[in-house]
Amino acid sequence: MANLKAVRGTRDLLPPETAIWNRIEATARAVFARYNFGEIRTPIFEDTGLFARSVGEETDIVSKEMYTWEDRARAQSEKAQSLTLRPENTAGVVRAYIEHKLGETGQLQKLYYMGPQFRRERPQKGRYRQFYQIGAEVMGPPSSGSESPLRDAEVLEMLATLLDELGITGWTLELNSVGSSADRARYNEVLRAALVPLAPKMCADCQRRAVTNPLRVLDCKVPEDQPLIATLPMIAESLDEDSKAHFAAVMAALDAAGVPYVRNDRLVRGLDYYTRTTFEFTHGGLGAQNALLGGGRYDGLSEAIGGPKAPGIGFAMGLDRLVLTLQSQESTVLETIMIETQSDVFIAPIGEAQNAPALALARELRKSGLRVELGDGAFRVKKSFEIGNKLARNIVLLGEDEIASGILTVKDFLSGVQTKVPRADLGKFLVK
Ligand code: HAM
Repeated sequence: MANLKAVRGTRDLLPPETAIWNRIEATARAVFARYNFGEIRTPIFEDTGLFARSVGEETDIVSKEMYTWEDRARAQSEKAQSLTLRPENTAGVVRAYIEHKLGETGQLQKLYYMGPQFRRERPQKGRYRQFYQIGAEVMGPPSSGSESPLRDAEVLEMLATLLDELGITGWTLELNSVGSSADRARYNEVLRAALVPLAPKMCADCQRRAVTNPLRVLDCKVPEDQPLIATLPMIAESLDEDSKAHFAAVMAALDAAGVPYVRNDRLVRGLDYYTRTTFEFTHGGLGAQNALLGGGRYDGLSEAIGGPKAPGIGFAMGLDRLVLTLQSQESTVLETIMIETQSDVFIAPIGEAQNAPALALARELRKSGLRVELGDGAFRVKKSFEIGNKLARNIVLLGEDEIASGILTVKDFLSGVQTKVPRADLGKFLVK
């Protein structure tokens, strides 16, 4: 069993980097609270059929990337069930919405989630087989206002706010509309016809999709196919008046709120459930995997998996990619996090006899909210200073004299200043 390593495409997240992850999650929770979102936690695995019916059989995710297994039947009367590690979380949220009859409240449901997702993709920078998403969904019966373009604009405005508050600069919001399901059906037929002469010159996936689900041809990444794909008709030409008006209203609200965007007519997104608004926020610092987040509207998804009419819109951000972006940009955010996660004080017992009193002192200081690192009496004074300087802002030596007199010497590593402080006042002094 030598050399056991994390599985390809998965990785360990270690401190101090995890402090950045925690900061992003805390900022997201704070922003979601201001928009009145509540947290939902759905299972990590679901029935395979859920993803096939929502994300779509012909998508890359379902046809190539899912971790699926037959769960053993426990009794002879039971059938083995096909289960899948969730490749995304929208399907699970909509399943939960249906299962718990959230639509019957008549209210708009605003739900956010954070957690791991799994796709068997080729690992590279910003692309992992276990990755993390922070996402949110806004859905409800049509009477709750769930179809309104204002919901789309509000979600996009919230994302702009969140990225700004995370300290991510230089993002681009790319926006498109893929129309209603009727528009999409029309567009699929237009594409099908356009692909008849082209498909034989394209890759095997495209040849199959040209027949089964022509829209998915647009997801093709094969370089040789791209010039042909560029000649295909645009979805904008298949939108009806309602869809055009909905899209225009989303853009008008974004303009009014001062959220910048660019239109990208080719943005159809690689999942089948989208209708009308689709979007991605991209960032130049990420390289090939440049999508920080993606999302869109899915007005027919609930019905497609057996639920009531429940139009909705949502997004998921790649947490791994947010961290990479913060690390790639010259940012004071990282410095601030590093300073904030530094300990306030290193307590250095000068001999074995001071170990126990040092723990008592550390306990008091920690109770008053300070971050405390504790040394050991076996360390020399020199070593205590070396370790303390790396870990903490201040050092307090605890020897026999200090314990007897109750007067402690605090050295501030940053300024070099030493101050004598009565033990009872130490907490207050350090908090300052
Ligand atoms: P998605 O575009 O498949 O959409 O994923 C959303 C984001 O997750 C991507 O923009 C990217 O940042 C991140 N991501 C995806 N795959 C990987 C990977 N292998 N490694 C690292 N990061 C990755 C969805 O998942 C939809 N459920 C979003 C949504 C919510 N639409 C409506 N509601």
